[in-house]
Amino acid sequence: MLRLEKVQTHYGRIEVLKFIDIEVNEGEIVCLLGGNASGKSTTMKTILGIVRPTSGRVVYRGEVINDVPTAQRIKMGIATVPENRRLFPHLTVLENLEMGAFTRNDKLGIQEDLKRVYQLFPVLEERKNQRAGTLSGGEQQMVAVGRALMACPKLLIMDEPSMGLSPALVDQSFEIIKEVNKQGVTIFVVEQNAQAALSIADRGYVLQTGEIVMEGKASELLKSDKIRKAYLGEA
Ligand SMILES: Nc1ncnc2c1ncn2[C@@H]1O[C@H](COP(=O)(O)OP(=O)(O)OP(=O)(O)O)[C@@H](O)[C@H]1O
Ligand SMILES: [Mg+2]
Repeated sequence: MLRLEKVQTHYGRIEVLKFIDIEVNEGEIVCLLGGNASGKSTTMKTILGIVRPTSGRVVYRGEVINDVPTAQRIKMGIATVPENRRLFPHLTVLENLEMGAFTRNDKLGIQEDLKRVYQLFPVLEERKNQRAGTLSGGEQQMVAVGRALMACPKLLIMDEPSMGLSPALVDQSFEIIKEVNKQGVTIFVVEQNAQAALSIADRGYVLQTGEIVMEGKASELLKSDKIRKAYLGEA
């Protein structure tokens, strides 16, 4: 579904991604682990077309999309839950959800997807007229996921969904990701919380200062000594 081939990305003269290869197959949950400043968000932005790779290819469903603008990528089925959620705090929950459908004009489909989001997150229906900025962190996360689903994505890319959530909410948030995946959405999730991400993922990659230093099945990465030391707080 998605392939990054030897992708190199710069900010000015600084090389942030150093020829990375990543593959996400249809139906999978794939996670990208990495510490601060390793290039996780830059990888997301490269997939979305917010930054352009200086070399290498981004291939989506068999098509090279290096030169495809972000809005077009969203129409093609790539949706995102960005870092820190980026809601419109002064707009209502419903208005935020509707923003997710801005590239669509199939009114009926949009209504059906809104119902689907409310089924997944009943609390959002109860609060649909409340300003998004007044919701709890966990509820705001639901709005961010719901908004992404309103684009009717084939591929959902998420930047650190666990950020700022309590441990219980992290578990809940990852259960929701699993549920969304079961409904047929392929998921690429960027995380520092290796335990939570690997516990739901099929496969994972580890990014370190812009290079993929490890990859494999999630179950194997969870057992790896290197991962345990670097991300799971074990000496
Ligand atoms: N717009 C920008 N201009 C210049 N440098 C940038 C820009 N955005 C990010 N960088 C640099 O690129 C490197 C990777 O940043 P990135 O945001 O991809 O890391 P990250 O893995 O997402 O980190 P975090 O875990 O803190 O979110 C960092 O050194 C950062 O300072
Ligand atoms: Mg980041």
